Amino acid sequence: MHRIVIIPFLFLFALTQPSCNPDSAVTDQKDAELALLMRKMFDETLEVKKSIVQGDTTVEIPRFEDIHTAIPTDPDVHEEGFYAFADAYLWAVDALDVADTAHAEHFNAVVDQCMHCHTEYCPGPKVRIKKLYIPEGR
Ligand code: HEC
Repeated sequence: MHRIVIIPFLFLFALTQPSCNPDSAVTDQKDAELALLMRKMFDETLEVKKSIVQGDTTVEIPRFEDIHTAIPTDPDVHEEGFYAFADAYLWAVDALDVADTAHAEHFNAVVDQCMHCHTEYCPGPKVRIKKLYIPEGR
């Protein structure tokens, strides 16, 4: 009898272990460095999007090097794959930085990299991140 009760409970517990902060607004714990950095990245990326849509071709996304070192909610996130995604993201930022043309495409390639890492490590915010894409033809 006891086992029947305990096993589903353990299973649920495993499922709800946060690999990222699903809803930071309703959590009591202190937000992780990486979560704070990500919020800043989101805001800055949104500002850059607005500039590109308005036709500004001098935009630069700040290079958030701290992405490698900021402490995540779940320390297990810091594995090889995470660093590879982080590098790919920074390369996309560099490519936008040096681009003379096609800023919207380069910008969307940066958002692709946000999405790739999130698919693997933190799917929750993908709904929000997806809205950063610049629609074709802008
Ligand atoms: C290398 C992997 C990686 C990349 C690239 C990445 N993220 Fe994240 N992101 C994470 C992880 C892991 C978390 C969970 C942070 C935590 O809770 O410690 C996160 C959390 C977030 C959050 C939620 C923060 C909160 O309030 O808790 C947002 C929003 C977010 N990322 C947006 C972005 C945007 C926008 C980009 C691209 C500009 C991006 N991320 C690129 C891995 C990544």
